[in-house]
Amino acid sequence: MARVYAALHKGGNVMQGRPRRSVLYMPGSNERALEKAKTLPADALILDLEDAVAPDEKLKARAQVCSAVKGGGYGAREVVIRVNALETPWGTEDILAACDAEPDAILVPKVVHAGDIVSVAKILQGVHAPDKIRLWAMMETPMAILNARTIAATAVYAENRLCCLVMGTNDLIKESRARALHDRFAVVPWLAMTLVAARAYRLDIIDGVYNDFRDEKGLRDECERGRTLGMDGKTLIHPSQVGPCNEIFSPTQEEVDWARKVIDAFGHPENEKKGVIVVEGRMVERLHFAMAQRTVTIAEQIREMEGACV
Ligand code: COA
Ligand code: MG
Repeated sequence: MARVYAALHKGGNVMQGRPRRSVLYMPGSNERALEKAKTLPADALILDLEDAVAPDEKLKARAQVCSAVKGGGYGAREVVIRVNALETPWGTEDILAACDAEPDAILVPKVVHAGDIVSVAKILQGVHAPDKIRLWAMMETPMAILNARTIAATAVYAENRLCCLVMGTNDLIKESRARALHDRFAVVPWLAMTLVAARAYRLDIIDGVYNDFRDEKGLRDECERGRTLGMDGKTLIHPSQVGPCNEIFSPTQEEVDWARKVIDAFGHPENEKKGVIVVEGRMVERLHFAMAQRTVTIAEQIREMEGACV
């Protein structure tokens, strides 16, 4: 049980949480993007060694990304390295180099079953990688969606380090032969299935990318729908997407004000032992108290990060 508790409380992925509203990908081979990311108000950055890097550029990208991560300068942004899959010629070396560079997390691509997380976690254990390095998992194949529960369940064991799932919707659309329509008719069931698996094991989950990066309205609509589904944030491909995405995935002032009222009400001595109370005519339960705490914590962290970015 202690291990379960430890797993569920590492990586900032439980009720207290940390903001993962905007998660920006950049090709590891693009030196300019790695530098520019230090100035962008994204909550997290994915420095990619996988699909955004051509085979001939893989080694250069690995060296460049690891040197950028070691060099630092990314402030409070969470820095994540997406490695190539273990089955590829680059996978193992990418993981070893990433362990040495010490990002906040390693994003494992094309996860198909729980064993894919365990295999990478074992490599990290084998080299005594610092405990702070977490694992994120790409959910981008039909088999990953079918296995979402068992993949997420690897988080029960602290040594597996899993804290976040990332939807790879472009790959899912390709693999399933679906149509990529604006209403995301085909995609929503996969998002919802994976989301409940994530929540069952207290993981964060980030929505897939919106490819048409000049279309701000389309992006906003997709962010709104993702947030309504329960997503913590969205993966992004271009700096112009960060602002709108942050705005939509931030708790609104109204939500924060209400959360503070709920926390204050439960703090009154007469409510200390109550499971359910009334605040401004609405029934409020203990579960709302926990949600309110999370809302306030996230809002405070966002304020701190935004203060640090100006
Ligand atoms: N991260 C950081 N900086 C980025 C960036 C990113 N993802 N995408 C663009 N930029 C920077 C550019 O370097 C440029 O900086 P500068 O003007 O200060 O020199 C600025 O933002 C404007 O870029 P722009 O000219 O509008 O974009 P582009 O045409 O050069 O590139 C893409 C468009 C889509 C190729 C590029 O945004 C990109 O590579 N995105 C990420 C793709 C990816 O990683 N995919 C894998 C996961 S799906
Ligand atoms: Mg992919």
